[in-house]
Amino acid sequence: MKTTGNTIFITGGSAGIGLAIAKKLIAEGNHIIINGRNQERLDNALKELPGAVGIQGDFAVEADRIRVAEELKNNHPEVNVIINNAGAAFAYLLSETANAHEKAMTEMNVNYIAIIHFTELMMPHLLQKEAAAVVNVSSLAVYGSHKFLPTYCATKAALHSYTVALRYTYEDQKNVQIYELYPPTVNTEFSAEIGGSNGIPASEVAEELFMGLVKNQFDIPVGEVKKYAAAVGKAMAKLAAQEANS
Ligand SMILES: NC(=O)c1ccc[n+]([C@@H]2O[C@H](COP(=O)([O-])OP(=O)(O)OC[C@H]3O[C@@H](n4cnc5c(N)ncnc54)[C@H](OP(=O)(O)O)[C@@H]3O)[C@@H](O)[C@H]2O)c1
Repeated sequence: MKTTGNTIFITGGSAGIGLAIAKKLIAEGNHIIINGRNQERLDNALKELPGAVGIQGDFAVEADRIRVAEELKNNHPEVNVIINNAGAAFAYLLSETANAHEKAMTEMNVNYIAIIHFTELMMPHLLQKEAAAVVNVSSLAVYGSHKFLPTYCATKAALHSYTVALRYTYEDQKNVQIYELYPPTVNTEFSAEIGGSNGIPASEVAEELFMGLVKNQFDIPVGEVKKYAAAVGKAMAKLAAQEANS
């Protein structure tokens, strides 16, 4: 896709991966709108993002998603790219909690339901644009399960499945592209509880996203996730060949 001159809205753009993406895309000549729950954090991030604006809102809350979508359409009608990045995760052991279902509901709401809802709210607007894109931030977690993230991984697998369905839905509409970004462990506040300090810097994720957008590479595995993506790709190709020969 065209990687300059866009107006790009990033949920959870005031820290971590979202902030790194905002910095990279500003440097490449795009107008950026970031979001986050905490206004002070948003204001601090904006100091590092020349020309960017912020829209406060909690994407776990349906009314906030509706308000933010309306604000974008009314006050920033030029918005043509949305990056669904805000996420939630609980690190815990199933054997040591009595409320796994509540944690799962919170994670599923932010990582999956909120993205479906917000995309639904924005899609009619995006479809009117000459060129538009949706970027969903999933994870290495798409490829497996994790003892200490027992319910988070399933939410990212669900997001992956939805993203593929969204891509199929709009594949004839050449003006809207659907991307999925798969970060490995990244050194952010989000991953601190699960050894994230050994992860890659968020700036590396932003660079890989940018290269993926340049190449119209709709699935963008980052770092070690490339190994998993390649293994799954090979297995699928083998299955397809077996099917063709049977
Ligand atoms: N870090 C990793 O190792 C890793 C790996 C794979 C995938 N990911 C995915 O990458 C995404 C970003 O993670 P990160 O590591 O960059 O997190 P982070 O450093 O904790 O930053 C999270 C950002 O999202 C905002 N946010 C959190 N909940 C929100 C909500 N309900 N509504 C609106 N904004 C919200 C935060 O600001 P406020 O707190 O002010 O709201 C902040 O700007 C997530 O979807 C995560 O699942 C992360």
